Amino acid sequence: MNPYAVMTAPADKPRQRLFIPGPTDVHPAVLAAQTLPMIGHRSDGFESLYAKCEAQLQQLFFTASRVYILAATGSAMHEAAIRNCVGGRVISFVNGAFSQRWYDVAVGCGKEAIRVDVPWCTAVKPAQVTDALTTALADGPVDAITVVHNETSTGVTSPAGEIAAVVRSISPETLVLVDAVSSFSGTRIPVDEWGLDICLTSSQKALALPPGLCFAAVSDRGLAKAKTVTSRGWYFDFLLLERYLKRSTTPATPAISLMQALSVQLDRIYAEGVEARFARHHRLAAHTRAWAVANGLGLMAEEGYASPTVSTIANSYGWEIDALNAFLAEREMELSDGYGEYKGKAIRIAHMGECWDADLERLLAAIEEFAGL
Ligand SMILES: Cc1ncc(COP(=O)(O)O)c(C=O)c1O
Repeated sequence: MNPYAVMTAPADKPRQRLFIPGPTDVHPAVLAAQTLPMIGHRSDGFESLYAKCEAQLQQLFFTASRVYILAATGSAMHEAAIRNCVGGRVISFVNGAFSQRWYDVAVGCGKEAIRVDVPWCTAVKPAQVTDALTTALADGPVDAITVVHNETSTGVTSPAGEIAAVVRSISPETLVLVDAVSSFSGTRIPVDEWGLDICLTSSQKALALPPGLCFAAVSDRGLAKAKTVTSRGWYFDFLLLERYLKRSTTPATPAISLMQALSVQLDRIYAEGVEARFARHHRLAAHTRAWAVANGLGLMAEEGYASPTVSTIANSYGWEIDALNAFLAEREMELSDGYGEYKGKAIRIAHMGECWDADLERLLAAIEEFAGL
């Protein structure tokens, strides 16, 4: 008997279609919020909307610091973090496609980026950070490190809190920049307790919003660092953002419709309960992994570091993944192929955002039907 069968989605929950790791399904009430009439972005109404969303996001980031909300995507926040917090050198830990992207962004911004490769499908470990940082410090200060908390390309979560602790102990002035694009709101990321200087995310993953918004919790240290760095640009200049944040607004015209959707979605998240939401994500991930193992499928993620929001499963039976997705499409579902070199060799099942137990059961049953498991 399925121990999760009793867990059901809210009564008004439509069928989940997208089991890809973003964009994820958006609840109709949230989609509908985007059709509300426009309000002026220099109005009291907008400032209240921003202030409400910021306060709710601060709670979700477990931070007393500011949260910037911008019309852009997570990659843009990679760039914002680099341009504001790195004047000299940055170490980028690369264990997948998105940590590689952050390194590329640093290079693209003209920074001296030290790339530390960590095998794909494994987590970045505190000992690797200690080694790399100690080596780099022999040549001078390191402004920041970048690490991806949840590598969506491989379904691996790195211990960002432990990493931040070793950075702090070795080089207190080095900032810790963390990408939580595909884990934020699916698992607990206590930004202040862990001492993260930037924790950034996008709207279209576990937050279950349309793409187009990005968020960053920025520490006082991050903001202080920005004051010392030149060529911060304009759109993502933390000092400019901070001036406008004091009035709960943004320098440029914000994505008002998306902010209205964000407000509704944050209320839904708090109605579910933050801890219940985290537990749901962890439960779905554990169930997916148990299902894979029970059906003779390998798990790609290093043991102990598997993601709570996206599971990467070896294509152990050599399924034709396009055919599998065509089969699923007839049932209004879709999952993801492996990323990069894992294309054809793995499947990725996202269980985040609006995904509930019954949705996952429907997907897994359809895969079993396709494969004759
Ligand atoms: C971990 C991670 N970081 C960064 C990104 C890039 O985010 P965006 O597509 O919002 O720019 C993604 C996108 O999938 C991601 O999964």
